[in-house]
Formats: sequence, structure tokens, C-alpha cells
Amino acid sequence: MTYSIIGSGKVGSALARQFARSGIPVGVANTRGSQSLTALVNDLGELITAQSLAEALGADIVILAIPFNAHREIGQKLSDWDNRIVIDAMNTYGVSPEELGDQASTDVVARAFVAAKVVKTFNQLPAALLAKDPAQEGGRRVMFVWGRDQDANTRVTKLVDQLGFAPLSLGTIEEGGKLLGLGGALILQNIIKYQ
Ligand SMILES: NC(=O)c1ccc[n+]([C@@H]2O[C@H](COP(=O)([O-])OP(=O)(O)OC[C@H]3O[C@@H](n4cnc5c(N)ncnc54)[C@H](OP(=O)(O)O)[C@@H]3O)[C@@H](O)[C@H]2O)c1
Repeated sequence: MTYSIIGSGKVGSALARQFARSGIPVGVANTRGSQSLTALVNDLGELITAQSLAEALGADIVILAIPFNAHREIGQKLSDWDNRIVIDAMNTYGVSPEELGDQASTDVVARAFVAAKVVKTFNQLPAALLAKDPAQEGGRRVMFVWGRDQDANTRVTKLVDQLGFAPLSLGTIEEGGKLLGLGGALILQNIIKYQ
């Protein structure tokens, strides 16, 4: 299984840190090219690879850690995503509900990624918290996961677990979107799960 993160800003770097911490190799790409990633790679170690965007698009699981409005440009780079998993870690700050056509943002993303299975996660914590060790006070920081394809949800839930978080499935887009969408009951919750 290969992974890539598109976006090396606050969220992309935080996620790359979790991959490095968990011993899982990941490629990282941005708009400025692999040279710009030298500092990040030097900081996080050999499991983190600076990639071109074209290389990053080829991973089995591609994580989007980019501004929401950049997702179409990425999705349209491939005419067929061939049932691969795309993780939507984006939020829609500054995007109006009208722009989304009153649809769940993950469904809007899915339209730009033809034949991909889009799963939402990693979007719900501030980047500074996302970068921290999920092992906390004898428990693990909770990460919610939701999406339309159950197999893809299960696969991503496994990754979230491997990265050290306590994954909690919120089911479909309707269910998860309601809880973590604008005004949702789980917004800005930083929950630790003890077992
Ligand atoms: N910041 C948070 O606390 C937080 C928390 C949860 C979710 N989010 C969401 O996560 C996403 C990323 O946020 P961020 O704070 O990490 O943003 P950021 O620090 O501004 O980083 C954005 C990254 O996206 C890359 N990028 C932009 N357009 C691109 C394109 N067309 N192709 C490839 N890469 C592109 C940028 O590349 P360059 O480096 O080359 O400019 C940069 O590395 C947003 O959707 C945001 O809403 C943010």
C-alpha cells in the first residue's frame, strides 16, 4: 500500500509527521516542487519522500491537504481514479454553501475525482494538534472517519489506527457531515478515548 499527501503546509506537514512517527512511508508534494520539501524531509527522516505532483497522484491512497478550491485542479489531472481512495482532509473555510450547491463538501470533491472513493478524515483537528503524538494521558486522540464507500471507510479507519489515533466511524456523508459540518455537535471537540 502506497500513500501520498498533496499539500505540505500546516496540515500536510502534521500528517507527514504522524506517518514518520508511525514508521509508514509517505510521499509529499506541493505546487513548488520537491526542492521546496528538503527541510521537511530532513526534519522527518527517510520515510518521508519529496515527490512531484505526478508521482503523488499515483499512490494507492492520496490525501488532500490543500485549500478546498484547489481540489478540482488536482482531481482533473486524471480522467479515471480507478477506484483508488482519496482522503479529503480539507475544510471549506471561505466557501459559501451556494458555491457547494448545498451539497456535502465531500460529495463536491468526489465529482472532481472520477471513479475515486472519497473518505473524509483528518480535517477536524487544528493542525497544531494534528501534529502532536495522538497518545495522550493513557488514551488516544479520537479521529472521526466517514464516507460513502464502506470498504474505503474501513481501509482508512485502519490507516488512522496505524497512525496512532483512535478512529471512530461516523458512517455515511449524511451522518458524519451533519455532526462535523457547520454548527455540528462534534465540531472542535478534542476527544481522548481510553480503553
Ligand atoms: N490549518 C488548520 O488548522 C486546518 C485544520 C484542519 C483542516 N484544514 C484544511 O486543510 C487544508 C490545508 O490547510 P493548511 O492550513 O495546511 O494550508 P496551508 O498551510 O496554506 O498549505 C496548503 C498547501 O497546499 C498546497 N497547494 C495549494 N494548491 C495546490 C495545488 N493546486 N496543487 C498542489 N498543492 C497545492 C500548497 O503548496 P505550496 O506549499 O507549494 O504553496 C501548500 O503546501 C485546507 O483545506 C484547510 O481548510 C486546516
